[in-house]
Amino acid sequence: MHRRILAPGALAAASLLLAVPASAASRSPGAPGIGDPYYPYYGNGGYDVSHYDLRLQYQPRTDALEGTATISARTTQDLSGFDLDFLLDVSEVRVNGARAAFTASGEHELVVTPKAPLAAGTPITVVVRYSGVPSTKSAYGFTTWHRTPDGAVAADEPEAAWWWFPSNDHPSDKATYDVSVAVPDGTRAISNGTLQSTSSKLGWTRYTWRQNKPQATYLATLALGRFDLTTSTSEGGVPVVNAYSEDLGDDEGAARASLERTGEIVDWLSGYFGPYPFASAGGYVPNTTTGYALETQTRVFYSPKQFANGSNTSVVVHELAHQWYGDDVSLKGWKDIWLNEGFARYAQWLWSEHEGEGTAQELADYVYASHPADDPFWTVAPGDPGPDHQFDTPVYDRGALAVQALRNEIGDDAFFALLKGWPKEHAYGNASVADFQRYAEQVSGTPLAALFDTWLFRPSKPAAPAARAASVAQPAAPGTAVAQPRSWKGIEATNGVHGR
Ligand code: ARG
Ligand code: ZN
Repeated sequence: MHRRILAPGALAAASLLLAVPASAASRSPGAPGIGDPYYPYYGNGGYDVSHYDLRLQYQPRTDALEGTATISARTTQDLSGFDLDFLLDVSEVRVNGARAAFTASGEHELVVTPKAPLAAGTPITVVVRYSGVPSTKSAYGFTTWHRTPDGAVAADEPEAAWWWFPSNDHPSDKATYDVSVAVPDGTRAISNGTLQSTSSKLGWTRYTWRQNKPQATYLATLALGRFDLTTSTSEGGVPVVNAYSEDLGDDEGAARASLERTGEIVDWLSGYFGPYPFASAGGYVPNTTTGYALETQTRVFYSPKQFANGSNTSVVVHELAHQWYGDDVSLKGWKDIWLNEGFARYAQWLWSEHEGEGTAQELADYVYASHPADDPFWTVAPGDPGPDHQFDTPVYDRGALAVQALRNEIGDDAFFALLKGWPKEHAYGNASVADFQRYAEQVSGTPLAALFDTWLFRPSKPAAPAARAASVAQPAAPGTAVAQPRSWKGIEATNGVHGR
């Protein structure tokens, strides 16, 4: 799926050969990739984006998307040019007001060469005018732009942005967003953050959304279609906006019964992770046939399939946990995926305990016992699973098992201080598994190299299950009932559906 790596250097060599003005002989173009070993061409070198302003128009009948992206960035090196990651058809690029040369290269590179070279540390404004039918565009043989009967949805991981806006597509370059989309009256546009305004003219309604906190590119989402919106405020004061496709059929009741608990769950998770980091919360359920959910920042993407067997608060817990673990604190590199999925799964275990459906320890024991030593489950190392296994079950389940092992090693006091301290330590930033190990050692005063190696990095079943914590009662998380585990009801049908 994501696993197509061009001959290393092919693209880099091509960029280097592009005409460089003689006056800038010492300047070279930014690299076509940001340096992530899992995905060598994702993101780009040489600049750092602070804001994306997207002003778009979309016609659901034809899937035609057009508009302008205005990107505010700063160069991080002397540059003769730079790349953006993008697939649609570009008609004009301007850098600091002046028309720039541009060409498409590789699978998703838009190579931009400004009139004059750019010095390191310069603020730049890049305007890209574009249009296209996203569903007709693919890279590496796939598309993640999902059409629906009434529109389309952009929500996938790690690739989603290429189909709807030009970007520095890597979680290590986070930025704020204004997303403004005009759609035919009767259709709605849903995106991240808060709905700043809605206005209508000439048969088109424009929806303008604002994400005022740094957001990774894959966490930006856009849904276009017929939706019903609900708004509320959580007991803890977090505004909640949910949106439901008007065509959810039999899944609608269960979808609403799940998403309408968003405020309650956000408040409950705040007890473990600290204050909710964003100005708004919520989710949307389009009438798509995709199977997964995604923690798109503040506005979670859910598939109707998540609700085919009735309400599913567990998936809501998973995606909302990502708002802290993944969205507020984002990955430094894609190999750090355990920081997202291990903790989001662990939050589901805490919720199970809260609901009286099995404690975290019971679920850890169950996962450990369910996979014999020769099960390939144990060959995936959640701490560095490789691009082909990034979203495989072990990253989630073995990943959460590792969290339980850590809890048992350092004790509940240190563990819950760590859970809450981490989002504060790296608020709106990026961090790696190595950063987490260091922080956990600091908070607990316990050397953890062996534990991390055993549970996250060794491609084999650890010899002993995560030992039960010797003592300590669970600390108070607001709204946490003392669990009276009754039965294991399973965590199936939550998330971790693979494939597109
Ligand atoms: N981060 C998502 C989740 O677990 C997983 C998305 C996997 N992507 C996919 N195309 N299946 O919440
Ligand atoms: Zn997840």
